[in-house]
Amino acid sequence: MSFDFDRPIPRIGTHSAKWDSLPARFGIQPEGTLPMWVADMEFAAPPAVNKALQDAIDLGVHGYYGDPASYHEAIQGWMKRRHGWDIKTNWILTTAGIVNGVNLAIQAFCRPGDGVIIQQPIYHPFAPSIRNNGCHVVGNLMKYENGRYEMDLEGLASQVDAKTRMMLLCSPHNPTGRVWTKEELTALAEFCLKRNIIIVSDEIHHDLVFDGPHTIMATISDEIADNTITFTSATKTFNLAGGHTGNAIISNPRLKAQMHRQMERCGMLASNRFGYIMNEAAYAEGDAWLDELLVYLQGNRDYLDARVASDLPGVTSVKLDATYLSWLDFSGTGMPEKDVIARFQDKAKVICNHGSSFGPGGDGFMRLNFACPRSMVVEGMDRLAEAFSDLQ
Ligand SMILES: Cc1ncc(COP(=O)(O)O)c(C=O)c1O
Repeated sequence: MSFDFDRPIPRIGTHSAKWDSLPARFGIQPEGTLPMWVADMEFAAPPAVNKALQDAIDLGVHGYYGDPASYHEAIQGWMKRRHGWDIKTNWILTTAGIVNGVNLAIQAFCRPGDGVIIQQPIYHPFAPSIRNNGCHVVGNLMKYENGRYEMDLEGLASQVDAKTRMMLLCSPHNPTGRVWTKEELTALAEFCLKRNIIIVSDEIHHDLVFDGPHTIMATISDEIADNTITFTSATKTFNLAGGHTGNAIISNPRLKAQMHRQMERCGMLASNRFGYIMNEAAYAEGDAWLDELLVYLQGNRDYLDARVASDLPGVTSVKLDATYLSWLDFSGTGMPEKDVIARFQDKAKVICNHGSSFGPGGDGFMRLNFACPRSMVVEGMDRLAEAFSDLQ
């Protein structure tokens, strides 16, 4: 490997949400704790990204960002090389990250009182984003059978009505790790087209795929592209989340104008200089780094799955096609969530996201972030094996 993913990088006292928010968020000190929750990685960003930042620091002037031509070119190159997707410069709108973009999209395309579909359990900021903008959640529970999640379009058909305006899709899906097949996505898109439901496809995890292929919703057909807003970012792929920069890619000029108008109304047409710089360098020069990262992460995933199978009887690690977030099913242990959490936090000092925070269908699960040096995954699993040793 040319990149060192084994090296632990101390982050306590660096304004790291994952480490330094532990006392406020979980009532636990970071020293001696293994934070395996929020979705950023313990790895240094690709050298090209840090070099681009270093150049900016050497310049020393940090004024407003302008002329995004090379930034757009880097995105276009990436989407073409990695996803076979030809996008045009004028399809791109840059937001202050994806959650920001999703909120703006809800404001742009929905009216208060409208329904927005999410497939639950799902990434926790989605439901509040819908509600905070005066809309209501149409919560479509996924089918979970034999350790595998499936969409439930039949159930959805009985849930939607004339006021259902938007489908907020997570693809690949967080927290279940599903990569949706082209057939599944096509069926969903047709369902939405038939009912005049606009699709917002959050594809922030689309570079972090082990078992694909991932299909970009907007590439399936022109008709589907016309009804879709795609969100992507280099921030998840390359560990640049603090840069809070993402892109809405919209080929339909009418939808793009609507989104642009809403961004203007919120004073959000200008974005973070450092976010542009980091995203451009990552997309332009990050291929080799990502290729190695995926091999490393897959090794972590496979190690973790093997340890769960051997050391945590009654616990199932849901097969993860994508993302670095294991979705661990504790329902077979018969323990209520609060007991599982207590063992993670008080006995093992391993902090993970609680399943119930992902909404209906999440209770009984824990989401564990394994994007860290292998030694930390080993230590985490040793501690969990010990904390749950009575299950053996
Ligand atoms: C599905 C999904 N969307 C969005 C985000 C966050 O995006 P941002 O930090 O750009 O708002 C995450 C972070 O984990 C995520 O999993």
